[in-house]
Amino acid sequence: MLKRTLMASVAVFTFAAGAGHAQTIGFSQIGSESGWRAAETTVTMQEAENRGIDLRFSDAQQRQENQIAALRSFIAQGVDAILLAPVVATGWDSVLEEAAEAEIPVVLLDRMVDSDPDLYLTAVGSDLVHEGRVAGEWLVEAVDGADCRVVELQGTTGSSPAIDRKNGFEQGIAGADNIEIVRSQTGDFTRTRGKEVMESFLQAENGGADICALYAHNDDMAVGAIQAIKEAGLNPGQDILVVSIDAVPDIFQALAAGEANATVELTPNMAGPAFDALEAYFADGTMPEKFIQTESRLYTQADDPAGEYEARKDLGY
Ligand code: AHR
Repeated sequence: MLKRTLMASVAVFTFAAGAGHAQTIGFSQIGSESGWRAAETTVTMQEAENRGIDLRFSDAQQRQENQIAALRSFIAQGVDAILLAPVVATGWDSVLEEAAEAEIPVVLLDRMVDSDPDLYLTAVGSDLVHEGRVAGEWLVEAVDGADCRVVELQGTTGSSPAIDRKNGFEQGIAGADNIEIVRSQTGDFTRTRGKEVMESFLQAENGGADICALYAHNDDMAVGAIQAIKEAGLNPGQDILVVSIDAVPDIFQALAAGEANATVELTPNMAGPAFDALEAYFADGTMPEKFIQTESRLYTQADDPAGEYEARKDLGY
């Protein structure tokens, strides 16, 4: 049996490869905070079924300790591999070392960790900084030099998309002195919190009259915020521009209704490339790239949002 050393820096860890097929894979999912997350879960289950994989699913309900317990349980069960969508970026070293000691490869899905990359086989995700930058650059063009006070709904504190999408957006608007982020707070990637935080932004900003644009780190928070803007008597998409990330069906409905302006797509199919990488690894020891990048593209009201909604509405969102 071919053995391949995965950890260059800590050479004691080896994973058994070349054994054929990953039969049993544990999947530690964050929870179901957003439409995008629900779709990722659905797609992962479908991909596993299509490939004859026994997928053991664990929903962490947004808590890192639940994810760590799930990983330890997967290790104890002797699964062939683990998929991990990590809720936050820090605090994974010990459990990833335990998986490596058990020779179980871990693949990260959609979010990153700050651990030594030698502790996981590969990560499948988008360029999260790029997503934020695309959103920022869209706003620079949309306001065309006019003064613009922006409120920002951040994702889950300490998560890689919240950190990177914030940085990316700031890069996108850097140099546009007319654009200023005046308020920024977490909405935890949920619709409910997005609405609540937007209500407080509106109250603090002259009923919304002093807000030119909302940047939300995901569509669900944007959809919640759109509701808050409407309840405040303003027109989202016109009085307050709305740009967000994910490209879920509901934001396409908002784009079609003129209530949102732009979204940057995050594909929910992270599992396909992850299973491909694991299959090659188990077949003949092929080491995947450390980061398998998925595409992100911008959609606006000009990109047939009604058609995009129809195309996506039954995909598990
Ligand atoms: O990690 C990806 C992010 O997590 C998605 O953009 C968001 O909707 C989800 O909660």
